[in-house]
Amino acid sequence: MYDLRKITDNITWVGACDRRIRIFEGTYPIEDGMNYNSYLIADEKTVLVDTVDKAVANNFFENISAALNGRSLDYLIVQHMEPDHSATLGELVLRYPDTKIVVNQKTMGMISRFFGFDIESRAVVVGEGDTLDIGSRKLTFVMAPMVHWPEVMLTYDPVDKVLFSADAFGNFGAIDGSVFADSLDFEGEFLPEARRYYTNIVGKYGAQVQMALKKAAALDIKYLCPLHGLVWRKDLDKILGVYDKWSRYEAEEKGVAVLYGSVYGNSANCAQILAGKISDKGLPVKVLDMNVKHFSHAVAMAFKYDRIVIVTPTVNAEILVSMDTVVRALAGHNVQNRKIAVIDNGTWASVAGKSVREILGGLKGTTIIEEGLTIASSLKEGDLSVLDRIAEEITA
Ligand code: FEO
Repeated sequence: MYDLRKITDNITWVGACDRRIRIFEGTYPIEDGMNYNSYLIADEKTVLVDTVDKAVANNFFENISAALNGRSLDYLIVQHMEPDHSATLGELVLRYPDTKIVVNQKTMGMISRFFGFDIESRAVVVGEGDTLDIGSRKLTFVMAPMVHWPEVMLTYDPVDKVLFSADAFGNFGAIDGSVFADSLDFEGEFLPEARRYYTNIVGKYGAQVQMALKKAAALDIKYLCPLHGLVWRKDLDKILGVYDKWSRYEAEEKGVAVLYGSVYGNSANCAQILAGKISDKGLPVKVLDMNVKHFSHAVAMAFKYDRIVIVTPTVNAEILVSMDTVVRALAGHNVQNRKIAVIDNGTWASVAGKSVREILGGLKGTTIIEEGLTIASSLKEGDLSVLDRIAEEITA
């Protein structure tokens, strides 16, 4: 049965939720499912904004049919070609063969790579600032390359003042009841998974997100309609504010992410003691055991806080694999402007600390504090004063 949600009188959410998915994009563990948003604009012409993942195709096509209520589908706007939004495009073309497909030049090429249908005869090709007249409104297109793929574009409806924002402002997690973000407590319920989503999916492309935010700032926006997560209609400054910070690589607050891996518990012991010393100095601390946590949580915490502690053993003359993944993920997601402390551990020939410093030392605006510690298998009484100095320096 269909499940439609009214966004405005003329715009209906026709997306669907997948609560069975456990790994999003083959990479990110998610506990509470995912929703794939799609929107139908009913004006003199009917316009669908994006399709959905294959896993929810049945619900999606029921929703479109119900929302159209016997009308034909005049246009599909393809804002983003990643398959979580485009996998049902081929089936849509089979079901609605007369629908025109609104794309930009980069999208054209991608459609041909993913699908065998004839895009040329169906395409309406648009560029920056172009409009599509659908009756009482002219939709405007805003290019947003690398938020999150090169072809991404956003769509603005100047009548209802809606920005269809593609992956931007999305979230992990299926919707519970309301499709609107104001149904959730921002700090407690919304922000943790929004942060993990943004930092891991788009975090590398801060400069491009900044460009998109500048374009958005020129628009009068009452609704933000992303392709995942919830629709924003109140307090837009909250979500725009954290996106601005994240994309400038500015921490949300002062605090320390202590990220450690441990083989026999000695590095864990060190991380725990150091976290206590940091906390005693008045800063919030989050300790993550990266042997049990996915690296995406480390990336999220590294964006939240302005300081990071890395504690890792040396194994096989390398950084412990779990911590190697973390350190490279921080570098790969372009973490910047942080103060970092490095502690390594080894029974012989400990080299992990040097490798961590090499990988993170080149990050823009980032300082690795000079005081460090190489644990010789386990912490000794004499190491505690070194941890005191590290706590002093990282919190200074
Ligand atoms: Fe939700 Fe980049 O796709």
